[in-house]
Amino acid sequence: AVADHLRTHGAHRTHGPSGDRAPVIGLVPTMGALHPGHAALIDAARRHSDIVVASIFVNPLQFDDDADYLHYPRTPERDVALLAEHGADLIFAPEIEEMYPGYPESPRVSVSAGELGRRWEGAARPGHFDGVVTVVAKLLNIMAAPAPAALHAWFGAKDAEQVAIITRMVADLNLPVTIRTVPIVRDANGLALSSRNRRLQEQDYAAALALPAALSDLVEEAASGRPLSLADQVAELTSAEGLELDYLVVLDPASLQEIAPGGPLQDEQGVLRGEALALIAARVGPVRLIDNAVLRPA
Ligand code: PAJ
Repeated sequence: AVADHLRTHGAHRTHGPSGDRAPVIGLVPTMGALHPGHAALIDAARRHSDIVVASIFVNPLQFDDDADYLHYPRTPERDVALLAEHGADLIFAPEIEEMYPGYPESPRVSVSAGELGRRWEGAARPGHFDGVVTVVAKLLNIMAAPAPAALHAWFGAKDAEQVAIITRMVADLNLPVTIRTVPIVRDANGLALSSRNRRLQEQDYAAALALPAALSDLVEEAASGRPLSLADQVAELTSAEGLELDYLVVLDPASLQEIAPGGPLQDEQGVLRGEALALIAARVGPVRLIDNAVLRPA
């Protein structure tokens, strides 16, 4: 279908980039229950591609918890409406049987995220990133652009480890795709949009705002050349009501390993001297929330 669409429309799109270069297919993988964070990915893909394909597939391989998989919100009609409104050309919404024939007998061969897949979210959710890279590799292959078209796949910075690991997979396995990212979309109070937010009660929502608050303190400290108040933030969040902190860490963005005072990215006083990534995860009410921010030194 993508090849047909390209043959018919490839050179004549009015809203895609013009010129003589090869047509670009923009793929936006999702698990549905779409919100304005997903819409931002579609919009970005729309601006930079000739054909926009959105996939909707709640991937059982990446859930370590059956209840979480079963409770994952599913809003297919709204999703289709949102995708149409934002100008997606095609929607790929396979059944499990199409992705994993005879599941759970398949896949029998899968992709491993290796050591990177066992840090932070990967430690909290064993096997999660192996499931993510396996399904993303399949989606990229299914969408493989017919030559001379190019495939771009769009991901949100909201899931920073996911982006880092997928970028690594593409490099390590020579996948013919360009990975592109879109900044985190937040609500008016700073909470990163997530399909899981709809399960937060009012008091959970109030507690959840501590996550972006801690991150923005770190961003400000980094930018103004003050020592990072990481230990204080962790202490404060650990004793906060209605929230169970899993981790708040500052990482080297490439290795996803924690930076330390006196190391290459931080001086002895804790002042940041290179770009770093702050990750946070906490359980709030019935859900696990994650968020992150890039810390840029003064
Ligand atoms: P899902 O959680 O549906 O997210 C789909 C894409 O939307 C991801 O790239 C995610 O980072 C992005 N996204 C979600 N909330 C966002 C926000 N508030 N701001 C910006 N981007 C946001 O991530 C997955 O699905 C799956 O792991 C998937 C990649 C589809 C593989 O199954």
